Amino acid sequence: MTSPTSPTTTTHVIELAGVAKRYDSAGAPALGPLDLAVAQGEALAVTGPSGSGKSTLLNLVAGLDRPTEGTVTVDGRRIDRLSEHALARFRRERIGMVFQFFNLLDDLTVADNIQLPAQLTGTARRQAAARAGELMELLAIQKHARAYPGRLSGGERQRVAVARALVNRPALLLADEPTGALDTASGQDVRDLLVDLHRGGQTIVLVTHDLALAEACASRSIHLVDGHLALDTTVEAVR
Ligand SMILES: Nc1ncnc2c1ncn2[C@@H]1O[C@H](COP(=O)(O)OP(=O)(O)O)[C@@H](O)[C@H]1O
Ligand SMILES: [Mg+2]
Repeated sequence: MTSPTSPTTTTHVIELAGVAKRYDSAGAPALGPLDLAVAQGEALAVTGPSGSGKSTLLNLVAGLDRPTEGTVTVDGRRIDRLSEHALARFRRERIGMVFQFFNLLDDLTVADNIQLPAQLTGTARRQAAARAGELMELLAIQKHARAYPGRLSGGERQRVAVARALVNRPALLLADEPTGALDTASGQDVRDLLVDLHRGGQTIVLVTHDLALAEACASRSIHLVDGHLALDTTVEAVR
């Protein structure tokens, strides 16, 4: 009675349709126009030379900036038309971001840094603390819970930043050059962490100019040149 193969519908966490971004009205757009769909569970690496539009793309997906043309749908929501207030809330609840220079708050402990986004979305302190504890254990930074970020190594700080990004179980984890400020060994730690998260089903967009990192972490790579998609390949590096 039951069909052995049920039709599968792909859930897209990101859908860009006809998206272009111009910073000034003259000349070619910094990005696009382009279409891009990223499925749930994909780990997408975005590579390309400096100035090719990688950060512009990430900022549009994060709702940190708006397209000049086209529509941006993330986790089922059209975000290009949301109010600033609604966007900020959407970002807090559904998007986790990791940056090259960690962007941790130096006067909060590691545990408080990780809990902060949960508290900002109204999670009770107890629950936020429990979730932070779980993540610190997972990322092996539990022993630094009460330390301040300034005391930690770059690799440890980036793991704290990843924990903070994950505290609200985001639909999407965005990382802009997350190993760019790390030594080789710490960079490999962060790479392994991203691989584990991808294996666990986390949807990830990783901007990097490090092709080895892209190859190690990503199930798919896109390459931007002058704001256009020059290459889009699905790789089998992880599975
Ligand atoms: N806020 C901005 N104002 C004006 N031009 C910008 C701005 N941000 C980026 N650009 C331009 O858009 C293009 C793409 O930039 P960006 O997305 O930062 O590239 P990448 O991250 O690949 O280095 C570049 O030509 C850059 O100078
Ligand atoms: Mg950039």
